Amino acid sequence: MAGAGRVAVVTGAAAGIGRAIAERLAADGFRVAVLDVVDGAAEAAAKEIANAGGTAAGFRADVSDRAQVDAALAAVRAEFGPLSVVVANAAIALQQPFLEMTLDQWNHTLAVNLTGTFNAVHAAMPDLVAAGWGRVVLISSSSAQRGAPNMAHYAASKGGQLALTKALAMEFGRSGITVNTVAPSSIDTPSVQKKRDAGKMPSAEQMARFIPVGRTGTGADIAAAVAYLVADEASYITGQTISVNGGSFIG
Ligand SMILES: NC(=O)c1ccc[n+]([C@@H]2O[C@H](COP(=O)([O-])OP(=O)(O)OC[C@H]3O[C@@H](n4cnc5c(N)ncnc54)[C@H](O)[C@@H]3O)[C@@H](O)[C@H]2O)c1
Repeated sequence: MAGAGRVAVVTGAAAGIGRAIAERLAADGFRVAVLDVVDGAAEAAAKEIANAGGTAAGFRADVSDRAQVDAALAAVRAEFGPLSVVVANAAIALQQPFLEMTLDQWNHTLAVNLTGTFNAVHAAMPDLVAAGWGRVVLISSSSAQRGAPNMAHYAASKGGQLALTKALAMEFGRSGITVNTVAPSSIDTPSVQKKRDAGKMPSAEQMARFIPVGRTGTGADIAAAVAYLVADEASYITGQTISVNGGSFIG
């Protein structure tokens, strides 16, 4: 199996896209560490993955807090051994017009989405370097590629991930480590549904009219791209952004 017992950590994996990635990597034979900030949620998700036949364990950590990330990864190593794969997925996506955005809101978004990515990758990277093999996948967003009104902080944080991907790909290319980004768009997750219910987003049917393949995406669509990028056979792909968006925003 692709995972061959390797250890993968997925941040923000209790729900939504991260959860789908954790499920897919577990199905592919990885031992999966589920990290999430919500009390008990990572453990509950890991339990369900294990009940479905995978190997998974849950750890609570706020990715914006380096001490919590370090503690969680130490616990992962104690449970499963050294890490081979890091998927930096945890993020927040607040909506605020730019002129109403406070410095605190800006800093908080950057702290979770971009510094949180740094924390997870930086804390795990020594294991990958020591093994001479590793896969890093960042989950960015189409917002970084085309902009997003009322989400300047989010778009900027996601753009930072694209640049980080390229820098790390160059720095770690000779260490057997690839670094890539998946940029989703219009993926149905519980948090998206909440925004729909609050009238802050159009329905899936309305959105589908503007997506070339005629439907919104699923967590499994993103997980499939991640599963490919973390496989041995993807060793010649690094520094890239794979857009998983049903054909939206081509170019
Ligand atoms: N859903 C979409 O349409 C879409 C589109 C583009 C990009 N994305 C990106 O995909 C990723 C997942 O999105 P989603 O829709 O599944 O989001 P979501 O809100 O449904 O899930 C995010 C998960 O991350 C966790 N999380 C939040 N802050 C955290 C923190 N500080 N530390 C640890 N965990 C934290 C949450 O508890 C939650 O379980 C994000 O990076 C998001 O920017 C999503």
